[in-house]
Amino acid sequence: MQGGQKAESPERGIGASGALEKEAEVAHEVRGVVARAKGAPVTVEQILVPDPGPGEVLVSVQACGVCHTDLHYREGGINNDFPFLLGHEAAGLVEEVGPGVKSVSAGDFVIVNWRAVCGQCRSCLRGRPWYCFATHNATQKMTLVDGTVLSPALGIGAFADKTLVAAGQCTKVDSRARPEAAGLLGCGVMAGLGASLLTGEVSRGDSVAVFGCGGVGCAAIAGAVLAGATTVIGVDLDRRKLELARAFGATDVVDASSGDPVESVRGLTGGNGADVCIEAVGNPKVMEQAFYARDLAGTLVQVGVPTPEMRMELPMIDFFGRGGRLKPSWYGDCLPSRDFPVLISLYLEGRLDLDRFVSETITLDGVEEAFHRMERGEVLRSVVVLGSGS
Ligand SMILES: NC(=O)c1ccc[n+]([C@@H]2O[C@H](COP(=O)([O-])OP(=O)(O)OC[C@H]3O[C@@H](n4cnc5c(N)ncnc54)[C@H](O)[C@@H]3O)[C@@H](O)[C@H]2O)c1
Ligand SMILES: [Zn+2]
Ligand SMILES: [Zn+2]
Repeated sequence: MQGGQKAESPERGIGASGALEKEAEVAHEVRGVVARAKGAPVTVEQILVPDPGPGEVLVSVQACGVCHTDLHYREGGINNDFPFLLGHEAAGLVEEVGPGVKSVSAGDFVIVNWRAVCGQCRSCLRGRPWYCFATHNATQKMTLVDGTVLSPALGIGAFADKTLVAAGQCTKVDSRARPEAAGLLGCGVMAGLGASLLTGEVSRGDSVAVFGCGGVGCAAIAGAVLAGATTVIGVDLDRRKLELARAFGATDVVDASSGDPVESVRGLTGGNGADVCIEAVGNPKVMEQAFYARDLAGTLVQVGVPTPEMRMELPMIDFFGRGGRLKPSWYGDCLPSRDFPVLISLYLEGRLDLDRFVSETITLDGVEEAFHRMERGEVLRSVVVLGSGS
């Protein structure tokens, strides 16, 4: 049990300004999953997590899901700021709050988010905090024991017994929710639900087609069902995923490995195409299919994350002639303080099946293997469970 151990922080020496860099005097030495170099398998390392400073919160992590974005980090697909402390779909208990923190207190059950809205940027000031252009994270750095600064994935880094975040990254929710399920709202499941409910503005009677039925796509299906869509089509290459799509409420499924999915979606929507098409893969070919599988004046939502090299080519006349809306979905356009408590209520009432996203629970040592299972399409979410006895 290394969870609660306190250790002296390493000496940092003189900073660029010439002043002695003042770091927290003590730090918690815990285990964390670190990606040291591009493409290299992740390792479990001892890390130092500082005590919370002003505006910061120390969270004792209970559960953290494995998201495709963690793998993107490991593969250098996000940026080159190795070493990364991975993990960002987490729930846990507030252990300690720093000076000035009023929004949460020790013992609160929280979901950690990557949208701590600033309230002051041009988007917040225009009343659109879900696009906040200046979201913030903890100021102090978590490090390896030798003092090497870690880059926490999405400003979180929750494949660790404890993590340090900004207070605004903690959303208090009903503690009756299972941490394994609740934590998933911290990223992929919220992104998918929001792609339907918020970005796509799916409403009663709509037809919706979701391309890619992984964790994000299945959540988009669940969101479309919650919104009252009458036709909900799941499209995937993998039969197992299509079965899951049905379990989340898809009324129809399309196997994109056999035949043209655009024609299939049109066939299932009276020859017209769906009112809302959601791309949840991150693939230009799929994006194009979703573009053409829309009805006239329909909405295309892009929630899958592309790599910088990906390109799309479309005849401008089709863009114009088909009308409607093309909308990228950052984190499902969610506002954690508004949306997490509502979704947890729906979960506790049995109206949103978050438990079904939890394919398996693992320990910190199992993250590398979980990446491989994700690549083989065997899971929706592997969830690291921390705490008791670890
Ligand atoms: N926008 C956001 O804020 C946000 C948040 C979290 C994740 N994401 C992104 O969403 C995407 C999906 O994430 P996930 O965790 O669900 O991944 P996943 O790997 O679990 O799911 C992807 C699914 O797409 C399917 N697929 C692959 N190629 C396909 C094709 N040609 N046609 C149809 N289906 C195909 C796979 O079989 C798989 O079921 C990723 O790009 C991820 O980075 C975005
Ligand atoms: Zn802002
Ligand atoms: Zn994620």
